[in-house]
Amino acid sequence: MNFLVCGGSGFIGSAFIRHLQNRDSKIINLDLLTIGSNPENLKNLENKNYQFIKDDIRNEDIINHLVKEVDIVVNFAAESHVDRSIANPKLFIETNILGTYSILEAIRKHDKVFIHVSTDEIYGDAENQSSFNEDSQINPSNPYAATKAAADHLVASYYRTYGIKCITTRCTNNFGPYQFPEKLIPKTIIRSIKNLKVPLYGNGQQIRSWIHVYDHVQAIESLISKGKSGQVYNITAYNEITNKTIVKKILDVLGKSHDMIEYVKDRPGHDKRYSIDSSKIQKEIEWKPKYQFDDALEETVNWYCKNKNWWEPLIDDKTLHPQPWTLNWK
Ligand SMILES: NC(=O)c1ccc[n+]([C@@H]2O[C@H](COP(=O)([O-])OP(=O)(O)OC[C@H]3O[C@@H](n4cnc5c(N)ncnc54)[C@H](O)[C@@H]3O)[C@@H](O)[C@H]2O)c1
Repeated sequence: MNFLVCGGSGFIGSAFIRHLQNRDSKIINLDLLTIGSNPENLKNLENKNYQFIKDDIRNEDIINHLVKEVDIVVNFAAESHVDRSIANPKLFIETNILGTYSILEAIRKHDKVFIHVSTDEIYGDAENQSSFNEDSQINPSNPYAATKAAADHLVASYYRTYGIKCITTRCTNNFGPYQFPEKLIPKTIIRSIKNLKVPLYGNGQQIRSWIHVYDHVQAIESLISKGKSGQVYNITAYNEITNKTIVKKILDVLGKSHDMIEYVKDRPGHDKRYSIDSSKIQKEIEWKPKYQFDDALEETVNWYCKNKNWWEPLIDDKTLHPQPWTLNWK
């Protein structure tokens, strides 16, 4: 089985490619190498059938050409940081919606399989509600989530209208090695290591559900072989925890004082809680997460401590900024 992986130089896409590296498959990674990506994520890759192409998912000609060559397209390519979507929504609209459109057109033309990697954020805020399942209403709160939701609708419409083969996944917050320093867990680790104050938005009581990135990519691989076309699958490891608790756990692993926490103005439109139910994937394909949250968080903190040479070239005042939505990201 041969893969076109779009966005394979980012956090989750590179974990997926590392996960597949011992399979007897051709893997083409198309990535524009925007912020969030890092070719170093795939430096030690052993797969002889791996090919990297620097290009844009919105480039319909190249996508059309590459889709013809493979069996499956897995799309991780996206603008993925909520804070930056608040400062510059247009880039998110162009990449996340038009990029998905460009892949869908090639998928329908060449009758290939499409795995659309979406997010639990499309359901919006779960404060005072039970967990969302795949039939829950879509109600995104920020421009990032709205563009991902739009892409989900496009995929569903191509399934119904053109009968394409596709699966949509909606996963909760990922953590693990090689996550770009601007996201909550790496930013907290790196700022703590550097003895900088650790920002928490608002009162820090926002609840997110966390999954290790290797559990996420294993779920995607299982869906490729056992998932049903046209279906949406939620993916969670049921680790619901406040941002404040996560930050305190990281400080504890590093032996740092909780006084390093600094409460900053909350992000506009900030959802209080994300919560999804993933019993569908557990029942239908018998996938379940393997990583235990506290152990995996400690392993992740240790990975960042040992791999300063990976993150040091990536950090500056913007990536480590306490309130990135106030910056001009254009
Ligand atoms: N990180 C999470 O917690 C999480 C959770 C659920 C779903 N997701 C989804 O998973 C996917 C991957 O997320 P991530 O955290 O790895 O993001 P990331 O920002 O680390 O990686 C995104 C990759 O896409 C590439 N890219 C951006 N624009 C492109 C374009 N126009 N053409 C080609 N490549 C382009 C970037 O260079 C980067 O390598 C996204 O679709 C995101 O919405 C992420």
